[in-house]
Amino acid sequence: MVEKSQIERIEELRDALNYHNHLYYVLDNPSIPDSEYDQMMQELVAMEQECPDAADPNSPSQRVGGEPISGFEQVAHDIPMLSLGNAFDKSDIENWLRRVRGLVDNEIFTLMAELKIDGLAVSLVYENGLLVQGSTRGNGTIGEDVTQNIKTIKSIPLRLSGDFPSHLEVRGEVYMPVASFTKLNEQRAARGESLYANPRNSGAGSIRNLDPKVTASRNMQIWVYSLIDNNGVHQPDTHSQSLEYLKTLGFRVNPHNALCGSIEDIEAYHKSWIENRHNLGYEADGVVVKVNEYSAQNRMGVVGREPRWAIAYKFPAERVMTKLHSIGINVGRTGSLNPYAILEPVIVSGVTVRNASLHNEEDILRKDIREGDWVTIERAGEVIPQVIGPILDRRTGSEVPFKMPSHCPICASLIVKTTDDAMHRCANVSCPAQFFELLKHFVSKGAMNIDGLGEKWCNILIEKGLITDISDLYKLRKSDLIDIERMGEILATKIISNIEESKTNTLATFLYSLGIFHVGSEVAELLAAKYDNLGSIIAASHEDLIAIQGIGPKIADSLVSYFSVPNNLEIIDKLLHLGIEPSNNKTSDIESDSPWKGLTFVITGSLSSMTRREAETLVKSLGGSATSSVTGKTNFLIAGESPGSKLQSAEATGIPILSEEDFNNLLSNPKNILNQT
Ligand code: IVH
Repeated sequence: MVEKSQIERIEELRDALNYHNHLYYVLDNPSIPDSEYDQMMQELVAMEQECPDAADPNSPSQRVGGEPISGFEQVAHDIPMLSLGNAFDKSDIENWLRRVRGLVDNEIFTLMAELKIDGLAVSLVYENGLLVQGSTRGNGTIGEDVTQNIKTIKSIPLRLSGDFPSHLEVRGEVYMPVASFTKLNEQRAARGESLYANPRNSGAGSIRNLDPKVTASRNMQIWVYSLIDNNGVHQPDTHSQSLEYLKTLGFRVNPHNALCGSIEDIEAYHKSWIENRHNLGYEADGVVVKVNEYSAQNRMGVVGREPRWAIAYKFPAERVMTKLHSIGINVGRTGSLNPYAILEPVIVSGVTVRNASLHNEEDILRKDIREGDWVTIERAGEVIPQVIGPILDRRTGSEVPFKMPSHCPICASLIVKTTDDAMHRCANVSCPAQFFELLKHFVSKGAMNIDGLGEKWCNILIEKGLITDISDLYKLRKSDLIDIERMGEILATKIISNIEESKTNTLATFLYSLGIFHVGSEVAELLAAKYDNLGSIIAASHEDLIAIQGIGPKIADSLVSYFSVPNNLEIIDKLLHLGIEPSNNKTSDIESDSPWKGLTFVITGSLSSMTRREAETLVKSLGGSATSSVTGKTNFLIAGESPGSKLQSAEATGIPILSEEDFNNLLSNPKNILNQT
């Protein structure tokens, strides 16, 4: 039994540590020496060990990071995490402002300018004042649960202070301060380890590290920039009021946020931070301009994943000079020959750049870029650096003009160039380079996620002829892999098991994995949300597709032409026969011993408590499958009102028939399906 006085002392220490933590990490204004803080922490840790009954996952002692985990759970964002449209100059901002003013009939609103922090967006959820979940943005709708790592960030309150609501969701940017980044790289250099390229990448890597102790060691920080949901309690009228309110709850809100009355104010804010951004101690890649009044924001709305009421006013890209040693060629997934610059390594906005993009032959010739030239390169945030052009003054005469190869550097097939296409392409659709790019994409993390099958092994599998199209992956046996030099049994087992696991990936993931031109993960999600099976997507017409919000003619064209190629359909067919089951219900969520597994249902007639589609979804969610016609494989027919001919065929072949009531009873007690056979 824990004594009352012990509990009281534990609580007293927790309160004091939370309070001093807030002063130190959020307000940057400590009131006690570090040694005193450390002493209180030691006392708390010792007392918690002595009194395991008093354990609390939100105790300040938990900041050190718990045990490593094997993977992150997915988190659905009920309110999507949005991204922002970009503005690059004053006229972009003027146009944006004119447009949004028009949307609210010139209603008066104010603007808030904030620094656009170059980190990782996170969502934090609190229940009854306690942090219960921290998650990443992911694709905006589904992110990863990184709660254990989030808890190690000392400026994120584990318990709210002030007058908090019973439920709260806030969002902000987690980042690695430049000083922590520099220190981390110094430590890595001293240990002979490879260096991180920039604070954003190492920050993202730290939040997505499976060992919370690693995150804890990285000195991450947060700026909170949005109040998403507070149960309607204290509903502020403006974004700036929300931020003030969030400060009272203990959150770290950027002190440089500024209310602006005019475009000139925005310009001045933007300009001053272009000059001062390197003194911030963290990376900012622009200014976010937001409409401050929620009433106006609501009238302006959101298109796709971008709110109309906010825009990112980017800082200009940084340019540097370096030497272009030579021009290399990559063969892409669509056979395009992509020239790239091989550069003398140089640092641009904190990143070491070795390669830069060169688009296509026409662009190289127009800019007259030659091998051996000194060139200007530019890096704008996310984008791969671009070669702007040669520095003509530095030419010595030894530079060599560029010529596209006439044959594919990978398979030696003829290169073709049509007048309506800017790219040169390898004419061989089975070019190993094209297939290599597709395979790399197919197995990658956001796609089928076949961990262990890295670039190197993809290459070897293709070279050895073990894989000639992606369906061959699902024919691989462990013995095929073990035979490969340096693969080893452990890795072979892991790869085979990950291939097996990938069969239950969702429909959206599968669609994205196919590498269809213009079909990124967000478009794949839209398609899967609209059609819940692959067949309907394959059958969808151009008109059907463009009717989906977020899908335009370019994407629709690409989908229709992809599904009209017989070879593509053949490969999909092979994949389905090899056991891939892309569906909206992740089969891995279903208990593996579900008695519904392997049972096929046909639902006919109209049901009074749900639609047929809903009934099918429920069957699938329990592990069964639902088909539309009665065949020898049908195990049960669920018959609603006016069932029609399917009931007759089921009766004729002796297939058990369930009424809607039977079905509802089974839903409340799924194991009873065993008694029905
Ligand atoms: S507002 C309105 N405010 O920029 C929806 N975002 O491309 C966007 N970001 O994913 C959130 N600083 O990670 C907002 N002060 C700020 C921001 C900010 C950085 C990031 C955020 C978002 C991305 C938008």
